[in-house]
Amino acid sequence: MEIGKTDPFACEVYMTGTDTSVTTDHSATDTGSVDFPQDRSCPYHPPTAYQPLRDERPLARVRLYDGRTVWMVTGLAEARALLADSRLSTDRENEAFPLPTARFAGVTRRRVALLGVDDPQHATQRRMLIPSFTLKRTASLRPQIQETVDRLLDRMITQGPSVDLVTAFALPVPSMVICALLGVPYEDHEFFEGQSRKLLRGPEPADIEAARDALEDYFVRLIDHKRKEPGDGLLDELIEQRLNEGVLDRQELVDFATILLVAGHETTANMISLGTFTLLQHPEQLAELRSDAALMPAAVEELLRFLSIADGMLRVALEDIEIGGQTIRADEGVVFSTSVINRDSASYEEPDRIDWHRSTRHHVAFGFGIHQCLGQNLARAEMEIALRSLFDRLPGLRLAVPAEEIPFKPGDTIQGMLELPVTW
Ligand code: HEM
Repeated sequence: MEIGKTDPFACEVYMTGTDTSVTTDHSATDTGSVDFPQDRSCPYHPPTAYQPLRDERPLARVRLYDGRTVWMVTGLAEARALLADSRLSTDRENEAFPLPTARFAGVTRRRVALLGVDDPQHATQRRMLIPSFTLKRTASLRPQIQETVDRLLDRMITQGPSVDLVTAFALPVPSMVICALLGVPYEDHEFFEGQSRKLLRGPEPADIEAARDALEDYFVRLIDHKRKEPGDGLLDELIEQRLNEGVLDRQELVDFATILLVAGHETTANMISLGTFTLLQHPEQLAELRSDAALMPAAVEELLRFLSIADGMLRVALEDIEIGGQTIRADEGVVFSTSVINRDSASYEEPDRIDWHRSTRHHVAFGFGIHQCLGQNLARAEMEIALRSLFDRLPGLRLAVPAEEIPFKPGDTIQGMLELPVTW
């Protein structure tokens, strides 16, 4: 980007105090030299270093940690076309599958249910789970989600007025909800939250491997226990209807449980923490939201688009694909930066602005195609209830420390706040 040009990712967080917003050298216009992934400079904007890629829509070349160059999809229409294209695979065992960091290189041989398998196996797996995540089924969980949120807010208000919102609220809400849905005892939350953290952000491949092993052992024991003493949850249903009928084996059930538990709490927790932070940094939009509760579903959708926390979907091409005036060759890696795609100015007017009234149709914050997020209805319900209740109950909610002192997550994982000290 040229010096002196307005930076669309200029971050309100750093408007005062030391300007740490531009830490990356993004003078390079040869996009082949832009690395992927990169840390965000502002918790709610795409990494500043991606600006040249944005100027080059719909596809660009980026470099991975291992020196390989892969395609980065940056245009919304092309992203949707490619995510729905069966010539792109999510098979991590394919040698050409793009790895974002060295720490994941050692664990690519591990099975990942749903997200790591292509059709037709994927369709078979997904069919078994779809009934538990329909809009209707999720709507029936709303009273239970509201009760969980209310209970956590009661406890937080008693503990307060200063708390870390991540540990007091943003993490326990989805964690309790997914536990109830699966039939996993919430008493074990410190164990599985810790292991999920290591799985997603462990510094070494060995940490990730150990976390996967620990979670698998846990689920093997839980499933064996449930076979003797059935409980009330999705895992119990799957044991009764699939495992006992021989349609599913225990390992597959363990793999389902692992992805659902990990994806079911980390992601939504990050949306609640980063969503709260972003609203507190945008007082005008927050005031509008407070004055009209009916805006909340649209606001959640706009926050999903704007924050794009799952900022790096990964695929490998099985065949040559012509798209956007380019040819993706067989065995080339393809990465999707949702934060860049969801700010495509061809689809969204003033994409770097939060606007509750815009049409957010077609954003890819939940992905698209066969792997589109299975838990999206649940996540939407949780976010709506959590954010509405939080700002209703605590009209004076504000950050307890200056915004620029609050740490957020690195670029190679789901985006969100590491902690969020608030007061009221
Ligand atoms: C706001 C919260 C969430 C966000 C932003 C999110 C984002 C995503 C994205 C982008 C994908 C597609 C990845 C790809 O194609 O490579 C995905 C898939 C998935 N998500 Fe979510 N997710 C969220 C919440 C949840 C919840 C609450 C659950 C579980 C109950 C869940 C379970 C899954 C599963 C199982 C998949 C794989 C689906 C498949 O491959 O068929 N997610 N999610």
